[in-house]
Amino acid sequence: MRIAINTGGGDAPGLNAAIRSATLSALRRGWEVLGIRNGYGSLYSDQPFVPLTAERVRGISMMGGTILGTANRGNPFEMPFKNASGDWELEDRSDETVEIFHRYGVDALVAIGGDGSMHIANRLTEKGIRVVGVPKTIDNDIWGCDISLGFDTAVTTASEAIERLSTTAESHRRIMVVEVMGRYAGWIALHAGLSSSADVILIPEIDFSLQSVVDKINDREYRGDTYSIVVVAEGAVEQGGSRFVKGKVPGQSEQLGGVAEYLEKKLSDKTGKEARSLVLGHLQRGGRPSAYDRLISLRFGAAAIRALAEQDFNRMIVMQQNEIKRIPLANVAGKTKLVHLHSDTVLTAREIGICLGD
Ligand code: F6P
Repeated sequence: MRIAINTGGGDAPGLNAAIRSATLSALRRGWEVLGIRNGYGSLYSDQPFVPLTAERVRGISMMGGTILGTANRGNPFEMPFKNASGDWELEDRSDETVEIFHRYGVDALVAIGGDGSMHIANRLTEKGIRVVGVPKTIDNDIWGCDISLGFDTAVTTASEAIERLSTTAESHRRIMVVEVMGRYAGWIALHAGLSSSADVILIPEIDFSLQSVVDKINDREYRGDTYSIVVVAEGAVEQGGSRFVKGKVPGQSEQLGGVAEYLEKKLSDKTGKEARSLVLGHLQRGGRPSAYDRLISLRFGAAAIRALAEQDFNRMIVMQQNEIKRIPLANVAGKTKLVHLHSDTVLTAREIGICLGD
């Protein structure tokens, strides 16, 4: 058996641990393991694969990023290229991708990725490739999985940063607006905001009213709390408004950003208080994975190889109620796991007086 491992889309802490455990579990079964360099886009190059050996994966579990490299423009069904006039176009190179797997004798693929990667993986299964998916994204929005690798570390990083901002906000009696990642779902904002005692948490699942945020800040002021911390997910939307988009590159999702800067100005105008904003951005994706992320990544990687060994193809490995399970890839594709508005985490936030913008 010869397998390939791909890490596609945005990186996340824990990817290397998943690569290590998938590689070692496969090697121990006598299989060969190839890593795909920089995502599917590099398959069409001279050296699409890097052999993964026990030596190559030694000591990598604690490292952030991915030793394989990744790319956000790696969809074989919509591969961007510049035409003769220098404009970007998309082309379907999926048949070529399948042919390359056959040419290199790849029997199965471990696709470690987020919702986009699972969608691609599912489409590859329709072309006869045998795939097992591993859920990765700091956004934690993959359907069917309680937690994806990278989320715990991102929440810890964001929570620590917000906590640091609280002390300077208090000294200066300012409003601090912190933008965290979360395109469609507010998992990072909710968990990091709650665990670092934010006063306002704005998530994409609840369109926010500016007035409600202003009221919360004024109310705190009235009670003698002269500073406020607002945590906002990059995908949060004001009632009647739309998402803050910074730009769009062909073959990639829209680049979001700007909601914190918008709130900084509006909140300062409406409350008369000084406000500052900052975007945590890719800080949340970098660095060493937490012990929990290492552990689930190792479990996911080994579980993927176990599924292949049992010939249980076209599945995604998931964590449900702290147990590893497998679900059909086809069930995951095209869906998003949003924050449940009646979950106890949301209720907790409301019950301790955090404003959710509604
Ligand atoms: O991994 C998902 C994500 O973290 C989103 O929250 C964010 O919008 C996106 O990645 C940013 O990715 P890029 O690396 O393309 O800026």
